[in-house]
Amino acid sequence: MTESSVLSGRAFAKEVRRNIKDEILRVGGRPPGLAVIIVGDDPASSVYVAMKEKACGKVGIESTVVRLKESISQENLLQEIDRLNEDPSVDGILCQLPLPGHISADTVASAILPDKDVDGLHPENVGRLWRGEEGLFPCTPVGIIALMKHSDIAIDGADAVIVGRSNIVGKPLAALLLRENATVCVAHSHTSDLEGLCRKADILIAAVGRPHFIKRGFIKPGATVIDVGISRTEDGLAGDVDFDEVAPICGAITPVPGGVGPLTIAFLLSNTVKAWGTYHTSSTC
Ligand code: GUN
Repeated sequence: MTESSVLSGRAFAKEVRRNIKDEILRVGGRPPGLAVIIVGDDPASSVYVAMKEKACGKVGIESTVVRLKESISQENLLQEIDRLNEDPSVDGILCQLPLPGHISADTVASAILPDKDVDGLHPENVGRLWRGEEGLFPCTPVGIIALMKHSDIAIDGADAVIVGRSNIVGKPLAALLLRENATVCVAHSHTSDLEGLCRKADILIAAVGRPHFIKRGFIKPGATVIDVGISRTEDGLAGDVDFDEVAPICGAITPVPGGVGPLTIAFLLSNTVKAWGTYHTSSTC
């Protein structure tokens, strides 16, 4: 058997960012604008938001970080979103998750204008995704499909198993894989014989947030294994997949770090440029 290939999300994300930078320069005019809302001071969220800000700056996207107190009421947060919805220099709006317990993430997602919803969580974008229409879709799943296509992984006709059913990864990924003609199964904590099910997958996607949960026994030889998990452990960052056990038997695998992680920000930039394109195509000047 040939050695498995390691799919470098890091290298692909770099290429995507370079293309985005070129596209912004080519189109010219008002630069794309992204507003990132952060509520409270969760350290991990602060790190992610700082990374998004830096990535925007490097490609020519104007980013604004709106920092709000943990104690802000949902009503005041919605007012802030309305202000950004109406701001013509803002093409994309993202509210960093998780939110404090007194604020509903669903209500927030529904308050962002669908055409500015770069997280792809507004019900209208979710509907467009499942109906096979154009729209803005969640960044990590979009990035995973793009990485697989870029790496010549056959999706059409493949049996795909996704472990994890979150609104931001598992469910949108199911819709995107279906759009690419994969046969899709979404597994979760109540799935019986998870290991046996995973072993049937040509494409296995792990998005559960449990370090090294996916072992050798879960893998069909030659399968493509995409590891979305990233957990902090005593030994450093760990994915959902036990890389050392799985890599020798699979066909292709994403590492942690350097696999799926960098795709999220690259495709956030891509969604922002897509939202900005809506402005360019609707603008008369
Ligand atoms: N928190 C962790 N990942 C994400 C993401 O992709 N979008 C938002 N809004 N918050 C997150």
